[in-house]
Amino acid sequence: MNLSRVDGQTSTRAAARRISHEAGEQTTQVESPVESVSEASEVGVGALGVGARDLSGRAFDIVLWGATGATGRRVAHHLARRCRGRGLGLAFGGRNRAKLEKIREDLPDSDNHIALLTGDSHGKAFMAELAARARVVVSTVGPFALYGSELVAACVANGTHYCDLAAEPQWIRAMIDAHEARARETGARIVHACGHDSIPSDLGVQFLQDAALARHGVPCKRVTTRVTRMKGGFSGGTAASFVNAMRLRDTDPDFDRLSRDPYALCPEGDREGPDGPDRMMSLEVTWDADLQAWTKPYFMGPMNSKVVRRSNAIMGYPYGRDFRYQETALTRGGIGGWWAAMRDTVFGRLFLIAMAIPVTRGLLQRRVLPASGEGPSKEVREAGSYELLLVGEMPDGIILKARVTGQGDPAVRSTTLMLTEAALCLAEDADRMEVGGGFWTPAAAMGKLLRDRITTHAGLAFELIEAPQG
Ligand SMILES: NC(=O)c1ccc[n+]([C@@H]2O[C@H](COP(=O)([O-])OP(=O)(O)OC[C@H]3O[C@@H](n4cnc5c(N)ncnc54)[C@H](OP(=O)(O)O)[C@@H]3O)[C@@H](O)[C@H]2O)c1
Repeated sequence: MNLSRVDGQTSTRAAARRISHEAGEQTTQVESPVESVSEASEVGVGALGVGARDLSGRAFDIVLWGATGATGRRVAHHLARRCRGRGLGLAFGGRNRAKLEKIREDLPDSDNHIALLTGDSHGKAFMAELAARARVVVSTVGPFALYGSELVAACVANGTHYCDLAAEPQWIRAMIDAHEARARETGARIVHACGHDSIPSDLGVQFLQDAALARHGVPCKRVTTRVTRMKGGFSGGTAASFVNAMRLRDTDPDFDRLSRDPYALCPEGDREGPDGPDRMMSLEVTWDADLQAWTKPYFMGPMNSKVVRRSNAIMGYPYGRDFRYQETALTRGGIGGWWAAMRDTVFGRLFLIAMAIPVTRGLLQRRVLPASGEGPSKEVREAGSYELLLVGEMPDGIILKARVTGQGDPAVRSTTLMLTEAALCLAEDADRMEVGGGFWTPAAAMGKLLRDRITTHAGLAFELIEAPQG
């Protein structure tokens, strides 16, 4: 796949300033679109490419869809803070107007310039109007396989840039298959997986490979990411996505095949490579000779690995066609490290088995897992942190190591800060991106632009810790 370069996208700062005043107390409850989407936004053939849209007249620079959920509330807070004084027109959307008003009222500097848009994810006309009025839509309404498809279709049709927290590979693949060709025409940049899954892995690998290329002129032929610290909780939407995935597993004959396929997110014709199957229920405990410690399966490893491999493919193989990638968690050395890895692996497997059986799944959902809207406490969110160690092997055997760290619990605080920066990047750095419309990964669409943003504003750090010169 080629990267099509887009230059000269119209800056919308002035229009946004004007519109943010008009937005004021606006609340939209739409049964049918009030204006024709195509009339509102279409410019046809122009500098942006065939069929691409001029977004400069759009009412909102960023619409947050799902501002009332466990992650959405925090994204609302971060976006309001980050947009203040930047001339960006912001709107919050959701299905419950009273909840939306409360979210807006509870902002530290209650900001009446933030518009509220009320409707349902399954309302096609409403989704079409929402997408037609925004330059960028950022969504936290998940499970995305249940609530996300209409919005992606609407953003693609309207040339609206879009990012979300989807970590559901089967759904992402379905969206790519259904809409990629049209997104290239309309200019919509669609970027899934903009949370802890999969930004640190995707941008971490890109960071390490950039260093390999800069120092040695060639990329690492193999990268392993080891999760060495993960402190925090998870929210109701994550639990719901997991429950939904286990249900789909029972009903969708393709589910397991796509889960196992390491190249499931790569473009057609690029779904082959040297990596073996991704395994959700692996019981593998292995010795990592590079880091002198035991490894255990990492639950989100298969998802993050698919994103990293897609990045490589859609960027034109900067990591090489024979690039191998694996992501697992690390304990430590010695018998203690082996025992910790074995114990966690067996426990994880038992949990997965319980989630696979409808009766125990229902019980866990009712009694143990957080409900929609719930998530870790403020203390847990703020005390949380994580660390990934990336080990890259050069073709001549030289080893490069990098570390990615994040402050705040990965699933909510760090995720919502990263998603906020991804939305701002799509809105503010549109002129600087090297890709046009299509389905991108965080690394392929935003790369260093996003890395710089999350380093400055989201508490992440990327550092080389071992990089011998060639
Ligand atoms: N990639 C990552 O690292 C990462 C991290 C965290 C979460 N996530 C994902 O993010 C998603 C959200 O998680 P969460 O914990 O924030 O979920 P949540 O608390 O359950 O919030 C879901 C949101 O969706 C809204 N919603 C549900 N059905 C809707 C409909 N038909 N129309 C309009 N809005 C609807 C809810 O509105 P109400 O408030 O009115 O119910 C709420 O705003 C999940 O898919 C989760 O897996 C990913």
